[in-house]
Amino acid sequence: MRIFLDTANIEHIEHGVSLGVVSGVTTNPTLVSMEGHKDYRAMVKKICSIVPGPVSAEVVVEGAPAMLEQAREIAAWATNVVIKIPATAEGLEVTSALKKENIKVNMTLCFSVNQALLAALAGASYISPFVGRLDDAGHDGMALVKDIVDVFKNYQDLTTEVLAASIRHPLHCIAAARAGAHIATVPYKVLLQMIKHPLTDIGIERFLADWKSVSGK
Ligand code: E4P
Repeated sequence: MRIFLDTANIEHIEHGVSLGVVSGVTTNPTLVSMEGHKDYRAMVKKICSIVPGPVSAEVVVEGAPAMLEQAREIAAWATNVVIKIPATAEGLEVTSALKKENIKVNMTLCFSVNQALLAALAGASYISPFVGRLDDAGHDGMALVKDIVDVFKNYQDLTTEVLAASIRHPLHCIAAARAGAHIATVPYKVLLQMIKHPLTDIGIERFLADWKSVSGK
């Protein structure tokens, strides 16, 4: 399973990429607004220049014609940009049009297997089931990820990758990997939590102390 960072924070992206474990980034309008970026184009271009893989940038207009126009504009900003389109009827229309133009789509706000199947048929490169938001609503978000992975496995011609989104904690990452998600997009805080283990820190402390006692340094 690959790891993407779910953020628009430049420092966090630089750190994640420098660790050699982050191979993509997903943003959304909320994440962009949290960072106070005023120039959407400059922000997307900057992130695309840092990340060695796909960077999802969401369309922020409504209606298929306007979404299509904005998607084409965003797609021209960088070669590794992927357009985030919501899983709606208009979104499917836009996705299938973009597919014909070889523009990659990450279909977002997915809450059902049917939405995922339709996204794949429309030609989306990625489908993003929102695990945490389903959990918040009293459903089993990770069960959806597993169901989508299982359904896609039945059909070799469905090449859409399952991108587990709305990840809230490290256990979600383990469950996404167990479920067979191709990618999990994680907040920076979760990436740090995935790295950290208290026994590793205690072990380093003890090794260094023991080394000091024999070497006298
Ligand atoms: C995914 O692409 C979304 O940006 C994100 O995972 C949404 O997460 P949230 O439900 O924590 O806002």
